[in-house]
Amino acid sequence: MSKNQEENVSNTSLEQDATKLDLSFKEHSIAEFFKKNKQMLGFYGKVRTLTMIVHEYVTNSLDACEETGTLPNIDVKIDELGNEYYEITVTDNGPGISKENVGKAFGKLLAGTKFHRLIQSRGQQGIGCSGCTMLSQMTTGKASKIITGRKEKKPISLEITIDPKTNEPKITNLKELEKNFVGTAVQAKFKGILYRDSEQGPLEYLKRTAIANPHAQLSFRDPQGQKTIFKRTHDKVPDLPKEIKPHPKGVTVDEIITMVKTTKARTVQSFIMNDFDRTGTKSIQEMKKIINFDLNKDPKKIVWDEAEEIVKAFKAIDFIAPSVDALRPIGEEQINKSLNSIIKPEFLTVLTRKPAVYAGGFPFQIEIAIAYGGESGKVTSDGKKMEIMRFANRVPLPFDAGNCALTHAVQSIDWKRYNIKDAENSPVTVFINFISVHIPYTGAGKQSVADEEEVLEEVRLALMNTGRRAGIYISHKKKEEENQLKRKMFYKYIPEIARALNSITKVNEEEIKSKMEKLVLEKLKLDEAKDAEEMKKLEEIMENDSKSSVNNENKKKGKKK
Ligand SMILES: Nc1ncnc2c1ncn2[C@@H]1O[C@H](COP(=O)(O)OP(=O)(O)OP(=O)(O)O)[C@@H](O)[C@H]1O
Ligand SMILES: [Mg+2]
Repeated sequence: MSKNQEENVSNTSLEQDATKLDLSFKEHSIAEFFKKNKQMLGFYGKVRTLTMIVHEYVTNSLDACEETGTLPNIDVKIDELGNEYYEITVTDNGPGISKENVGKAFGKLLAGTKFHRLIQSRGQQGIGCSGCTMLSQMTTGKASKIITGRKEKKPISLEITIDPKTNEPKITNLKELEKNFVGTAVQAKFKGILYRDSEQGPLEYLKRTAIANPHAQLSFRDPQGQKTIFKRTHDKVPDLPKEIKPHPKGVTVDEIITMVKTTKARTVQSFIMNDFDRTGTKSIQEMKKIINFDLNKDPKKIVWDEAEEIVKAFKAIDFIAPSVDALRPIGEEQINKSLNSIIKPEFLTVLTRKPAVYAGGFPFQIEIAIAYGGESGKVTSDGKKMEIMRFANRVPLPFDAGNCALTHAVQSIDWKRYNIKDAENSPVTVFINFISVHIPYTGAGKQSVADEEEVLEEVRLALMNTGRRAGIYISHKKKEEENQLKRKMFYKYIPEIARALNSITKVNEEEIKSKMEKLVLEKLKLDEAKDAEEMKKLEEIMENDSKSSVNNENKKKGKKK
């Protein structure tokens, strides 16, 4: 074959390969994507998957109840149907879901009521319970059963699967029920999962949910039929947080391009004033000095470069920090009550910090508690260890601890400074609740928080403050224990020494005893006075530490301004 002929053959085969490639080009839906990548939704590991399913259903129930001002009663049941085969049933007394929306709620990935708003809620992606429907059908081939009822309407029951090709719900057996029921009940079967009564199991998950949601009543029945009830310790539903508009400091060019598509504003000026948090006539005046196009322009006609100019101007001028109306912390009193009722510690200190802002535009707040003694700490075969309970918007995060900013903040603390020696091996529970209008999760499985600088810093400051208080208590307690031991030892040996001295000196045994007791008492008093002096010094050091960290904080705030 000549060189030319050879080239022609190789060109033809290249063309054929390219055509083959073109023919193999296919689209796939988000449902098909997550079906293949269920680990991205946190569905991996048998025990973990079971807890994640409970987590998805329970967080939805809590969100729904809170949004309608209902004190939540949530019932979770797990039945073992076979080897690594379970049925999970979660029932709530929330507002129920309309006939029109129930299909999409449980049978369409990336659909829901929470994604497009800036408000503190547990769910934010629209992928939680629909992900469970998909997991159920892909492991058992079965549909998820839903019963849902709204006030003054007949409840309905239906079965849902997702068509993976279209990511659309398929509803079967839709019926109206002749009974009274307001709320939502979901029942679904899963294979390849495992129930364990462990730190990562559903019972511990619900216990932590109860701690962070003192207004909720949770009941749980495990596969052996064992029932546990976490009673509410507070009778008031948290006030509904207010939705806030995006803060100019946190917005990107791309977001502006998206926002202008749906804005009702007729000019860029009114778009800036009405569609953002903390903007007003003063900001417009300042922006006019920086921006090179007419702010009376129709916002829908904004091009990329102009949106870039707006973002640059937002960065250059000052705005008041974002509104914190969208945040609802649990509050020190409620954390105190629920930790005391569930963990029953010997000592407890709680702190709710003031709201702060991360990434320029997202308000957030940190709540910390340190519990010592009682049922605090993690029980291991090696004795009690420090336990870190992480929460985001009151939702427990039992997995991916190593990846999480909240864990990193705890690890960065030098506990020895606060007299908590060997913190890792102490009966201590550190409770951290991070609340925000948007939690910067590191993945769709929503189990760990990204290392945002401001979040890390706030958690550290809160830990230092509560760590100090815990340290003082623990040192007091240790000294007390040492003194008791000393007293016991001295008194144990006095009779023996008195007897021995009596046989050598012939002085009356009782007389020696009483003199020795007097001596010991004086020695102990001296020791106690010395300890009290040391404790005072320690408290002073800690107090100074606290002042200097507040000063550093103020300096930093000053710098930021
Ligand atoms: N128990 C329930 N009661 C009322 N509405 C519910 C309930 N469960 C789900 N929904 C509705 O279904 C929607 C979809 O729920 P899903 O768990 O899939 O997503 P999400 O909660 O919005 O976000 P995330 O993926 O972060 O959980 C919710 O936004 C809510 O509107
Ligand atoms: Mg959800």
